[in-house]
Amino acid sequence: MAVVRIAVVPGSFDPVTLGHLDVIRRAARLFDRLHVLVTHNPGKQSLLPADRRVALIEQVLSEAGVQGVQVDSWSQGLLVDYCRRVGAEVLVKGLRSPTDAAYETPMALVNRDLAGVETLFLVADPATSHVSSSLVRQVAALGGDIAPYVPAAVARALQAGAADG
Ligand code: PNS
Repeated sequence: MAVVRIAVVPGSFDPVTLGHLDVIRRAARLFDRLHVLVTHNPGKQSLLPADRRVALIEQVLSEAGVQGVQVDSWSQGLLVDYCRRVGAEVLVKGLRSPTDAAYETPMALVNRDLAGVETLFLVADPATSHVSSSLVRQVAALGGDIAPYVPAAVARALQAGAADG
């Protein structure tokens, strides 16, 4: 019987950036099934509610022509619980810098300890390796142009939000 390789790209995606889109697109080519998981910490202040982040990712993937990716959110329990639920054996994350590597390595080891889930790191494209959601939130909050850092749908959504506020 053929093995179906299933992976999860997890993150806060608050908001999804061009760097995230690049990692998702590359991961989708490597696996039979890919899930993008918006993690939601109710105790943490976020720019966008989790359901809005999910909807934006779906829109961004559709506009980018990335097909067959399931987008979910998760606020209960461990990331590896979601992996078990969907049958994923691999987490995929982007690595932008040595700082990312230092932050991600212990989490990768814990996720492997907890459930045997491996983490695959994709080296960020140099075009987006300086981009983060926190930077985008800061630039947007102070009225700067976020268009170079996020997919068009996100720029539109945040600009509309700023106009509302
Ligand atoms: O985009 P982010 O905010 O860097 O990603 C957050 C993420 C997905 C790394 C974090 O929310 C997470 O791993 N949450 C799951 C909690 C968990 O399972 N912890 C134990 C193992 S590290």
